[in-house]
Amino acid sequence: MTLRFADPAHLPPGSPDGAVGAPQFEDPTQPPGWNKGIDAYKAAFGEEAWATYGKASYPRPLPEDSPAMRAALAELVDAARVAFGSKALRIRRRATHTAGIMARGKITVVSQPAFPEHPFFTPGRTFPCRLRHANASFYDDAAAVVRGCSLKFADSDFQSPLDMAMNSGPIGAFWNLESFMYFVNARVNVNPQEGDWESQREWMLKRPMGLIGTISSARIGPSSFAEINYYTKVVFRFEAKDGEPRYVKFRVRPVGLETESGLLPYENQIAAWDQSRAADDKRPLDYLRQEFRRRVYRSPGKPGVEYTLQMQLRDADPANDTQELLNMNQLWDQATWPWLDVAHIQLDEVFPDEVTRKTRVWLGHQPEGLSLIGALSPLDYRSLAYARAFVYPASQLSRALGTELEPPPPLGHDPWKIND
Ligand code: HEM
Repeated sequence: MTLRFADPAHLPPGSPDGAVGAPQFEDPTQPPGWNKGIDAYKAAFGEEAWATYGKASYPRPLPEDSPAMRAALAELVDAARVAFGSKALRIRRRATHTAGIMARGKITVVSQPAFPEHPFFTPGRTFPCRLRHANASFYDDAAAVVRGCSLKFADSDFQSPLDMAMNSGPIGAFWNLESFMYFVNARVNVNPQEGDWESQREWMLKRPMGLIGTISSARIGPSSFAEINYYTKVVFRFEAKDGEPRYVKFRVRPVGLETESGLLPYENQIAAWDQSRAADDKRPLDYLRQEFRRRVYRSPGKPGVEYTLQMQLRDADPANDTQELLNMNQLWDQATWPWLDVAHIQLDEVFPDEVTRKTRVWLGHQPEGLSLIGALSPLDYRSLAYARAFVYPASQLSRALGTELEPPPPLGHDPWKIND
């Protein structure tokens, strides 16, 4: 396994003002102004809490590169490997994004790309693919959780020229490895069976972007996995044939989607730590997985589900770029850097659970012309993608080992099963 990491550039830190924001984001598939962000935080915790914690989310100033910071990054990556590896060994399934469904299909690169000539995304090129949707946490499809979409540019359990792992929402509840581990700690300390969400409430109080990012990314009781948009969020290097340095993010959008499903209503935004399903939602625990299966097969002989893969491409501007361009919660202005179509995805066959369980998505699968970017500290925004390149294999090795000893039982009927 080789890992393609571009050298982390020593970009200057962004603004020293750590002000948090609910990025304004225009998306024709979302009603304008639905995401109340900062207002929801103030309604939940009060003006005084906002005055105390409003600037407490992002690390400002970002630390200088140093051996101590690099060591701290290595230690936290190891801690994450152990945490996710041991959980995967215990449950013999993915340590997160456990409940899901995967389909086979085809990816076709657009015939007239609006992006510069690229060695991998060449016009009309086709790939077989596997695409898996999942709930990022919990087993209840109706709960208020982040939804995932992983995409393998091959119909293979592992080998692939390119893998992508995306989640719902243009921004999320964490922005570097340190904030991710803070979020994980809050998540594993909830006790939803008892209605106890306190650890998540406290985390959102102290990290307002935890609440604001959750509002942006969680989807409650959506009608379909195929009525949600999914974003890589993290930034990759894009190396076109012209050799100009560029950055890129990707997203997947359902073809023809009019309104994204599952956006949190205001009453959920002001209590976003509580991930319970709506009280009047009586659908079964796995209704989304059942719906997706039906959708893939709904028109015999035709692809049941179709998506467009898009990219947002940005020229490197060394004189003006700061670390903030790598902060997944600072959206790139769409007027300056529009979303460009990359490929069409069609899905026509659902895999059985055994194949889905064996499939391993890995961020180290980057083709010529794309790469991960190295990271310098656990606070570095790039540490998210960097850590995942090492952590996913730990979960995957453990779940394979566990399954070798004894295949996992069915997921069961406990909607909150996460901490087992
Ligand atoms: C923007 C940030 C992230 C996104 C979009 C994301 C997305 C995803 C998706 C879609 C999956 C499901 C993969 C599949 O279907 O097989 C997944 C799995 C997983 N994620 Fe992440 N993730 C993010 C951050 C992280 C971080 C920071 C860590 C830990 C350091 C992490 C650890 C894991 C693990 C352990 C799995 C299970 C891997 C396996 O067993 O195959 N994720 N993630």
